[in-house]
Amino acid sequence: MSDKLFVKTGPDDGYSIYLEKDFSSLPKYMEENGLSGKRMCIVTDSTVNGLYEKDVREALTPLCTRTDTFVFEAGEEHKNLDTVKDLYVFLTERQYDRKDLIVALGGGVVGDLAGFAAATYLRGISFIQIPTTLLSCTDSSIGGKTGVDLDNYKNMVGAFHMPKLVYMNLSTLGTLSARQFASGMAEVIKHGLIKDEAYYEYIVNNFNEINERDGETLEHIVKRSLEIKRDVVEKDPKEQGDRALLNFGHTIGHAIEKYCDLSLLHGECVALGSIAAAYISYKRGSLSTEEFYEIRDMFLPFFLPITLRDDADPDEILKLTKSDKKMQSGKIRFVLLKKVGKACIDTSVTDEEILDGIRQLILSDEWD
Ligand SMILES: NC(=O)c1ccc[n+]([C@@H]2O[C@H](COP(=O)([O-])OP(=O)(O)OC[C@H]3O[C@@H](n4cnc5c(N)ncnc54)[C@H](O)[C@@H]3O)[C@@H](O)[C@H]2O)c1
Ligand SMILES: [Zn+2]
Repeated sequence: MSDKLFVKTGPDDGYSIYLEKDFSSLPKYMEENGLSGKRMCIVTDSTVNGLYEKDVREALTPLCTRTDTFVFEAGEEHKNLDTVKDLYVFLTERQYDRKDLIVALGGGVVGDLAGFAAATYLRGISFIQIPTTLLSCTDSSIGGKTGVDLDNYKNMVGAFHMPKLVYMNLSTLGTLSARQFASGMAEVIKHGLIKDEAYYEYIVNNFNEINERDGETLEHIVKRSLEIKRDVVEKDPKEQGDRALLNFGHTIGHAIEKYCDLSLLHGECVALGSIAAAYISYKRGSLSTEEFYEIRDMFLPFFLPITLRDDADPDEILKLTKSDKKMQSGKIRFVLLKKVGKACIDTSVTDEEILDGIRQLILSDEWD
């Protein structure tokens, strides 16, 4: 396995994404991209540190003048400004300057946080992404969105900052817990739902191979998801238009994430938010009853939730959707499905429709 995609960020600018099965080609690609002869600070979390930091450090050492490793406690609750500040201090104490490099090694939490620190330290230094979760390989490591949470409000502080390259060792996905793997599948399913009906069908029909993490199947879904995301972010790098389609499932998903006080994983909340958004689309006549149920039930074989606890408060979740950033002049830019494989942005979704979508997650057992 060895594959490559290129993301254009300007007429003569862009970065490569390498899909590999180990870390052995990392030095070669770093050199090809002019990323040698620097100090390199690996930023990782407490779990990934024990699994892959040594391999990455050994691969980078011959290339650079020095390596350092900054480790923070794993988990979304550490994706905040306190951890960013610790990282700034770490870099300052070791006199990192503008020519040096940050290496984000881990899942979306590491990528978002390290990318944000790279965007802001000394007004911006270079960084690369080495994603190690299904979610970060298929979604968060490309597109240049970086940021951290503020008082549990998701991604409230952030910046666009493009990586210099993205290197994936897909064998790292083998050590992910079943729950983390499932969480990544929510974003993969989202890609099919918003952009590619054939891909959606492929996912529905290959759930066994996907869940078994069959190498070829995984490579296929990572590549197809990346192509979909690449095509969207190339056309709309700063989310002026179509890039917002990638927020499908996220308006209600983020509200649920906050409502549950981060006890549910990001992808689990995206699954629930996607079902609610599909329900609103169905109620508006864009999806048939069968299509809606198929979408809802396809999350089940991937071990993703399709219901909320029955004591969940829909009004409270609705309130939390208002603090999501995806607003324009006070209106939520909601992403709906026109049909399977095609999404649209809609600013006319009412509170009542959102409440219905959320209630459906609480009541859906009674529907069967
Ligand atoms: N920037 C973007 O465009 C974008 C897009 C989607 C999601 N996100 C963000 O991504 C974050 C979620 O990312 P995530 O799901 O990767 O979470 P994560 O980074 O917290 O990783 C999940 C858990 O898996 C562990 N882990 C990572 N790689 C592992 C491996 N190979 N083997 C075993 N354990 C491993 C981590 O230590 C962590 O405990 C959220 O904060 C979300 O907001 C960002
Ligand atoms: Zn997401």
